[in-house]
Amino acid sequence: MTKKIGILVGSLREGSFSKQVAKNLEKLLPADFEATFVKIGDLALYNEDLDVDGATPASWTEFRNTVNGLDAFLFVTPEYNRSVPAALKNALDVGSRPYGQSVWDTKPAAVISVSPGNLSAFGANHHLRQSLTFLNIPTMQQPEAYIGNVTTLLNEDGSVKEEGTLSFFKTIVASFVAWTNTNSKK
Ligand SMILES: Cc1cc2nc3c(=O)[nH]c(=O)nc-3n(C[C@H](O)[C@H](O)[C@H](O)COP(=O)(O)O)c2cc1C
Repeated sequence: MTKKIGILVGSLREGSFSKQVAKNLEKLLPADFEATFVKIGDLALYNEDLDVDGATPASWTEFRNTVNGLDAFLFVTPEYNRSVPAALKNALDVGSRPYGQSVWDTKPAAVISVSPGNLSAFGANHHLRQSLTFLNIPTMQQPEAYIGNVTTLLNEDGSVKEEGTLSFFKTIVASFVAWTNTNSKK
C-alpha cells in the first residue's frame, strides 16, 4: 500500500540548505512512498483563544487536514540558537491541538538536522525529539542523521557532491522506509 510522507522543513528560506537536503532525500524514496512538502510558513502563531468554533484560522484547519491525510514524516531542520526554529515548533503546536485531536499521534518520523557548522544542529535535533516523544510520534533512532558542514556537501544546484554523502542519504532513507513500514498503522 502506498505510504504518504510529509516532509517538513524547519527553514522558510528560499535557498535553504535544509530544503536542498530534503529534496535529495525525497528523490531516494521508493515509488510506493509519495512525498509532499508540507508548508509551515503561513501558519498563524498558535493561540489557544483562537482554537474555538468560528475563530480557528483557516491556515490551521488546512494544515491539520493535510497532516491528517499523511502516514509518516521527515523533519529536516536547521538549528536556531541551539534549538528548533520557531516556525517548525509552531507547526507541531498547531497540529497537536485541539486537545485529544492531535494529527501527529502514532505516526512514524525521522529527524534530519542540517547545519553549515561542525555541530550539525545537534541541539535542534534533540529538542525536536523531545517534542516528538511527547506527541507520541515513533521517531527513528538509527542512523542518527546529523548533516554538518552542509555547504561543503552540496553543489550550486543543490545536488550532492560526493558518493559518500549520497550513500549516507541512501542509508537514512532506507532506514526511514523500514521504520515507517514497521510502525505505520496504515
Ligand atoms: C536566528 C538564527 C539562529 C541560528 N543559530 C544557529 C545555531 O544555534 N546553530 C547552528 O548550527 N547554526 C545556527 N544558525 C545558522 C544556520 O545554521 C544557517 O543560517 C543555516 O543556513 C540555516 O539553515 P537553512 O540553510 O536551511 O536556512 C542560525 C541562524 C539564524 C538565522
